[in-house]
Formats: sequence, C-alpha cells, structure tokens
Amino acid sequence: MFITVEGIEGSGKSTQAKLLSDWLEEIGIRTLLTKEPGSVISKECKQIRRLLLDPESNLARKSEFFLYLADRAQHVDKVIRPAISGGKWVVSDRYSDSTYVYQGWGRKLSTEDILPIIKWAQDEIVPDITFIMDLPAKIGLERARSTNTEFEGGDRFELEEVSFHERLRTGFLQVHQNNQFSRTRLIDAEKTIEEIHEEIKQVLRQYMDEHEITITPA
Ligand code: TYD
Repeated sequence: MFITVEGIEGSGKSTQAKLLSDWLEEIGIRTLLTKEPGSVISKECKQIRRLLLDPESNLARKSEFFLYLADRAQHVDKVIRPAISGGKWVVSDRYSDSTYVYQGWGRKLSTEDILPIIKWAQDEIVPDITFIMDLPAKIGLERARSTNTEFEGGDRFELEEVSFHERLRTGFLQVHQNNQFSRTRLIDAEKTIEEIHEEIKQVLRQYMDEHEITITPA
C-alpha cells in the first residue's frame, strides 16, 4: 500500500504524514515514512535535495525538473519499491503530483510534455491514496516561511511570489478533479491538526473495509 500526502507550502503535510504513519504502526501495520525531495534513507537523495533547495542554486527550469525526477527514480528504486515488496505500507510526504504541479503549473513547463516523463520516472509505483491538503496560498506561505529552519528566510520556493503559490493551489485542485474517483482525497487544511488526522484515519478505515484489508497485529 502506497499513500502520498501533497499540497502547497505550509499546508501541514509533514505533520499529517507523521501522525498517519504513527497511527498505522499503532494499529499493527509496518510502515515506512519517507519524503521528497531528499529521503533521509538515501544519501544520494539527500545530496540532490541540497542542490534543489539551496537559494544559491541557479537552476534552469528543465534542470530542476530532471533533478526532481532523479530524486524520484532513486527514491522509487532504492526506498519505496523495496519497502512495498517487503510488505510495508509506505507514506510519502510529496511525490509525482508535486512535480506535475510545481514544475508544470509553477514553473510553467508544458504539463502535456512533462506528464509522460513523470510517469516514466515513477515506473509502476502509483499511489493507492493521495491526500491533497488545500488552503489559501497566502496563509500557507506565511506558516512555511516562519518555520523554515533549514534555509533562513525560506528555500527557493518559499521565496517565490504569492501568485506562484496560487497557481500551485489551482494545480493541486486540478489534480484532484482528474483523480477524485480513483485515488485523491481533498482535505481542508485550515481545520485543526486533530480534525484532519481524524478525517484521514476515517478515509483509511473505509478504504480497508472496501478492500477487505484486515490487520493481524504483530
Ligand atoms: P521541503 O523543504 O521538503 O518542504 P515541504 O514541507 O514544502 O515539502 O521542500 C520541498 C520543495 O520542493 C517544496 O517547495 C516543493 C518542491 N518540489 C517540487 O518543486 N517538485 C517536486 O517534484 C517535489 C517532490 C517537490
């Protein structure tokens, strides 16, 4: 089982991904919590992350796109696929929808051009469920800039204009429109942490019922 959590800056993705993975472990599901870019489990991914987010990196749009895909291909091959094959559930804080939205809608690379390449890079590893955390860009951005401890004042994306982040929000809403009957669930990220966690648990309980997934405690 592969679950992704997506959304704009400051939407609370990382908090929810962590709460979700802790809850899954608690109910007896072996779970791997990971993130993009720069899964801590992969040295190569960590190196790519530095290059991607350092405000001093002067990356061309296409270089940036391919670096995200380099991170993804490495992450899929060395971290996600082995974990799923070993019977674990994987929760990833960002995945392919982020590339489609940030590099397509944000950086304005043609979404038509990049979609097939994004699919090629992820191979067959498509999320079973994707939570899209939605909130107004301005609120998210204020939250994110004030809490970034890795790059003072914000990373390369947090330094972008609000209009850039508004495009991202629209992009994620479009991803949801296109996939709402298969894998995406839209979450109102202005609710409290506890309310959102409850909602996410509810979605998963329902998914487990529908797919007759029963948990045998370890
Ligand atoms: P990160 O510090 O991990 O923050 P966040 O909490 O926002 O996930 O920064 C990751 C940044 O990389 C974030 O601004 C989104 C961006 N990104 C892309 O532009 N394309 C991608 O494919 C991915 C995975 C992330």
